[in-house]
Amino acid sequence: MTKALVIGNWKMNLDYVEAVHLTRQVATLLASRPVERVEVVLAPPFVDLRSVTSVLEAEHASIGVAAQHVSDRDNGAFTGEVSVAMLKRLGVASVIVGHSERRTMYHMDDAIVASTVRAVLRGGLAAVLCVGEDLATREAGEHDAFVSEQLTRALAGLEEAAQRVTVAYEPIWAIGTGKTATAAEIQAMMVTIRTRLAALGLGASRVLYGGSVNADNAAEIVTEGDVDGFLVGGASLKTEPFGAIVHACNDCYAERR
Ligand code: 13P
Repeated sequence: MTKALVIGNWKMNLDYVEAVHLTRQVATLLASRPVERVEVVLAPPFVDLRSVTSVLEAEHASIGVAAQHVSDRDNGAFTGEVSVAMLKRLGVASVIVGHSERRTMYHMDDAIVASTVRAVLRGGLAAVLCVGEDLATREAGEHDAFVSEQLTRALAGLEEAAQRVTVAYEPIWAIGTGKTATAAEIQAMMVTIRTRLAALGLGASRVLYGGSVNADNAAEIVTEGDVDGFLVGGASLKTEPFGAIVHACNDCYAERR
């Protein structure tokens, strides 16, 4: 059975002491009300990864850990960077690649996104590729073509790693703004993304939605938006809202493939 996937992207929030606290709380909540249809993953800042994996191991929690970014290089003189092998050694199973905040603020262009996805897959980890248009592109009616092109540039030729590729659709105008895309807008984009993924030989990949997801809108987006889960930002920083999103996804997700 394909499970839905809910990832909490903490972004640049929570030091390692706070990370330990939140991880324990999330593990306790999910132990008291386990989910069968959802895979839950936490994506803390690099410096918290070791603490988070240790807590999850100690609690025997079936919660995965992702990194928010990684270098596309294997090792060497790349000051400030972290490699896939380093993450793997820490028990990290997946990496978010090409988040719009990295694309817009840190010059991560399509070529670097593509080489980073390849580095992640080559290293044996799973990649969560972020795509999504800005407001001007949506208002010009070019969002479908834009996102399709982002997918092709990042994922062409990766059929063999299909099981380890997830796509997260995050319209930039919906991130951190409280303005969620409507279920109909999301559903239409899911068709576009799945069509392109199928053409790329990646039809089995899960497709998530991200952008102002919260405890109140999660159920509707899963049901009507036709998504395979969420990439959650702000609402993943507190136990209750994150737990509510996970449980809404568990209650509403109907396996479709
Ligand atoms: P928000 O949920 O805070 O809008 O962030 C979404 C996001 O960027 C997750 O990666």
